[in-house]
Amino acid sequence: MVGRITELPMKDNTKLIAAGRPHQRHAHPVNMPVERASTILFPTYDDYLEGARTINYGRLGTSSHRAFEEAITALEGGFETRLAPSGLQACNAALLAFISAGDHVLMTDAAYDPTRKFCDNFLKRFGVETTYYDPMATREDIAALMQPNTKVIFAESPGSLTFEVQDIPMLATAAHAGGAVLIVDNTWSGGYFCKPIALGADVSVQAATKYIVGHADCLIGTITSADERIAKKIYYALLQLGSNVSADDAYLALRGLRTLSTRLQRHEENALALAKWLSKREEVGQIIHPAFKSCPGHGVWKRDYTGSSGLFGVVLKPTPLAEIKIFFNALKLFGIGFSWGGFESLCVHTHPERYRSATTWEADGPVLRFHAGLEDIDDLKNDIDNAFTAMANAQK
Ligand SMILES: Cc1ncc(COP(=O)(O)O)c(C=O)c1O
Repeated sequence: MVGRITELPMKDNTKLIAAGRPHQRHAHPVNMPVERASTILFPTYDDYLEGARTINYGRLGTSSHRAFEEAITALEGGFETRLAPSGLQACNAALLAFISAGDHVLMTDAAYDPTRKFCDNFLKRFGVETTYYDPMATREDIAALMQPNTKVIFAESPGSLTFEVQDIPMLATAAHAGGAVLIVDNTWSGGYFCKPIALGADVSVQAATKYIVGHADCLIGTITSADERIAKKIYYALLQLGSNVSADDAYLALRGLRTLSTRLQRHEENALALAKWLSKREEVGQIIHPAFKSCPGHGVWKRDYTGSSGLFGVVLKPTPLAEIKIFFNALKLFGIGFSWGGFESLCVHTHPERYRSATTWEADGPVLRFHAGLEDIDDLKNDIDNAFTAMANAQK
């Protein structure tokens, strides 16, 4: 059985190692074994009745899932965590848990685009209206957008393309004053640098696909509830949606979690070093990184976050697309690919202006999103330097 070591007072770095381990068994492997199951067998009829309240069918999770959930609950500082088969489903199932036909959702204008599409297409078909709000909105702005039927305020902090850091305590107060809940997509912080539940959120969601899995080889989402009432709603939403996560993926995610703090430390160092170096390059117009004063919400980041992770944006000076292509094709260490949070460095050309409706997002030049991986910083700088040189040579 999974033990309750997390009831001991522990700092995050200890929780990441100790939580969700099979420490109550007499002799045991270091890691919780993978328990794959659809059917669970009960020795007696009474055990079968008892089972209805615990682990009783594979879709509701096995010990492998409970172990990972317990560890995330400890890290996020919540009441309970449930898993979803992707980060996107974690966002969407969390929304579905609180809304009915005729309800209204307030969604950040900097939201991950597939979350937007879920609101604009799927929720709309079921009679749920979405209003987008400026991620830098004030308490008064939010109060003005709240309607009697607003059931959810959804935040993504920082926005994963444009990096506005949102004021979670303010949003929580506004949501609760209007009888709504606050759901926060906390993926960028890995659950390590920011604790939305302690800041007042009702639900903290993560695409654990990113930093928690950490190795770019599995998709999984976590939904952590602040209290029992919220947890029940999440549980029934996932149950009724027929949501299922494989035990192997839960195992991989828990294994990734063990090294989260060490990896995040390097991601943070490399991202900060790259961002500072890039800010001095003549090709660069602007850095968008929460730890930089120029980033919208930097003051909130300083107040509510204990660090920064590896993902940040760079606006280049005006550059034709043909040269951008040369830049990307010259990169050797930075992969061109979606997602982030793995051990490897990535770079993509993004178009934040395409995913806005409540606000406009303008930049003077092309926007690149870098994910600083765990490679040596000098090699990463050299890789970008070579790509800029290739771009410059093309201009001659
Ligand atoms: C902020 C954010 N939330 C959620 C997701 C969705 O995660 P997944 O790819 O696991 O569905 C992503 C994916 O890029 C993301 O960046």
